[in-house]
Parts: sequence; structure tokens; C-alpha cells
Amino acid sequence: MRKKIIAGNWKMNKTLSEGLSLASEVVNIANDEVPADVSVVLCTPAIHLAQVSAIVKDSETVSLGAQNVSEHESGAYTGDISADMVKSVGASFVIIGHSERREYHFETNAQLAARVKLALDKGLTPIFCCGESLETREAGEHVDFVNNQLKESLFDLSAEEMSKVVIAYEPIWAIGTGITASSDQAQEMHKSIRTSLAGNFGAEVADGISILYGGSMKPDNAQELLAQPDVDGGLIGGASLKSRDFIAIAKSY
Ligand code: PGA
Repeated sequence: MRKKIIAGNWKMNKTLSEGLSLASEVVNIANDEVPADVSVVLCTPAIHLAQVSAIVKDSETVSLGAQNVSEHESGAYTGDISADMVKSVGASFVIIGHSERREYHFETNAQLAARVKLALDKGLTPIFCCGESLETREAGEHVDFVNNQLKESLFDLSAEEMSKVVIAYEPIWAIGTGITASSDQAQEMHKSIRTSLAGNFGAEVADGISILYGGSMKPDNAQELLAQPDVDGGLIGGASLKSRDFIAIAKSY
């Protein structure tokens, strides 16, 4: 059985007090209402992690994640955050390779490979993001493009390491645009990702990996997306900023 994961990516939103209120609301509602087989993850701005950690620590449903991590263990990297630091505040997940990081901070597949490896070595669960631009999709190259992202960042892992990674397929054209991939488009890509993982790591590993969909997932489209056989959860931006919408998505399974 694959883990069902609903992860909220707050991005660069919420002051500390707003973030703490949101986290408390999510934890209170999730503990009562989210089915036991669904894990909820809050990926908050790094500066909020330590305090949100205290709010989620007794919850069986909600855990904590960072939005990025350095590929270096420690040292003179002003402004960066290490895997040890993320772990030390009680977070267990980290988003790696979000398209906004790739685009605005020029993160490369090779750099992301090093981050995934270090995060795993430090006991964090990477949520590795992949996904194509509209241009790439319209050129019919989306499957090859995403396969290449997986190949360059993940395929050097051992099968055991890979089995600890979560993947998020996030078509760039669907992020924050209000345009969602259709459930058929999502299923097609998720299946192709799983097939590609099976080719490199074997069917058993591929079958166990949770592949989340991200890109304008909302309460009114979540159910259809999450009903697809290879969609194992969501990475949610905008709709994770309102506790009720976020939990409604987690309850749509
Ligand atoms: P969105 O963002 O739900 O606002 O489209 C998703 C993401 O970028 O993770």
C-alpha cells in the first residue's frame, strides 16, 4: 500500500503569527477529520519551522517539512539551510526541486541529485518535484522531459534510497494559474513516471512510491484527481493557505 500524502506548500506566505494560527487550525481539524490512512504535511517557510514544529509534534496526522535544503553539509553558504538544521527542528520532509526554485534560482538536476542524497542520508524524506512547461507539453515532449529530470536527479540512488523518496508531478503551466491538469493528463504522467521508476529500480520499488500531483489542486477538483490509480496525494500551494480548503482536499480521498 502506498502512503497517501497531502502536503501544503505555503511558499513565501504568512507572517509567523499568521503561520502559527494556520498550523494550529490545520492540526485541530486534521486530528478529528482526516482519515487515518492520509498523512498531512505542512511545508512552511524555514523561519517558521521551529515554532510550527511545537504545534504539530503531538499530532499523529500532521507532520512538518521544509521547502528547500542545501546540498552542502555545513559551512560558508550564507542564507542557506542544511539538512541537519531541518532535521534538528523536528521536520521530517523537505521539498526539493520545486519549479520556482529551478526557475528563479537556477537549480540544476545535478544539484538536486546531491540534495536528495544528502537529505536521505540525514533521515529526511525528500518530496522531489518534476514537471514540464507549457511549451514543452505543446511540443509533445513532456514525458521525455520529466523522465530526464528523474534520470538526472534520482537514478543514481540505490533502490532502498529511492523507496524513501516521494515524487510530486507539478506541470508548471498548472501552478498558481487556476488551470489544473485533467485527471487523464495527471494519470498519464504519473503512470509514465512509475513505469520509468520500475525500469530503473524494479517494479516493487516503483509500486511503493507515492507520486503526488501539484498544480491548482482545490477542494472542487481534488476528488477526481485523487481517484486516479497512480495519484497518491497532492502538493498544494494556494489552497493550503486556508485551513478549511486544505483539509477538504485531504478529506477527498
Ligand atoms: P498551487 O501550487 O496549488 O498554488 O498551484 C502548487 C505548488 O507549486 O506546489
